[in-house]
Amino acid sequence: MSKKIIAGNWKQNGSLKTSVKLSKDISYALKKNNFKHEIIIFPPTLYLYPIITNQKHEKLKLGSQNVSSFNNGAYTGEISASMLKDLKMNYCLVGHSERRHILNEEDAVLSDKVSRLYENNLKVIYCIGETLEQYKNKETKTILKNQIRALFKKNKLNIVSKPRNLILAYEPVWAIGTGLIPTDKELTNTFNFIYKTINSLTNNKSSLKILYGGSVTPDNAFMLMKTKHMDGLLIGGASLNAKKFIDICSTI
Ligand code: PGA
Repeated sequence: MSKKIIAGNWKQNGSLKTSVKLSKDISYALKKNNFKHEIIIFPPTLYLYPIITNQKHEKLKLGSQNVSSFNNGAYTGEISASMLKDLKMNYCLVGHSERRHILNEEDAVLSDKVSRLYENNLKVIYCIGETLEQYKNKETKTILKNQIRALFKKNKLNIVSKPRNLILAYEPVWAIGTGLIPTDKELTNTFNFIYKTINSLTNNKSSLKILYGGSVTPDNAFMLMKTKHMDGLLIGGASLNAKKFIDICSTI
């Protein structure tokens, strides 16, 4: 059975002290438990370096929440994929709904970010998902198909040649931080649809892993993970609490 992925997105939360402590608490718990999953945390970028220097647990992978769509150069405030590689980052998030909808990042720029990450051999967790309005209008499949197609338009060769470097995360925007989650039937349908869409774009040559994100808690993680084709979870709020995060890892 392939490894499940449990990823914690800390977003813009915490301080230097709390971030280092949280990563240490998670590392400590990982030492005590023999999880087979791939466990990744995405702290605020500024705290990645202190976290790297304070904890060295080979089981805990680190990722950045963001990356520049450009290579190194005159792009004030940006952080390039090669800088992340320099810090030995394993992963980067791209296309999170907060970046799409609050920071107005569009498919083209997101695809460029994925290209930069591929060039630097960093793994990508690429988020897709429909808004509440799109969900209510029954546009979920159309939206997901368009988001996946846009990603493949620029990166198909990369994706087919290095399928393990890309993981998709289905995160309905209306489920993020709201306590709402899709029904079992909706999840089965949607994951099946994403799986088939990827296969049709790659002529069945690459079956990418697909995660679910949106209001995951220790109470619903087990049921969620029963969904066919669901390979793991991307967790926001609950990942800020070491116990909850580890409880989720334990239930899977
Ligand atoms: P949530 O966030 O678990 O707090 O709903 C998920 C995410 O934004 O990745």
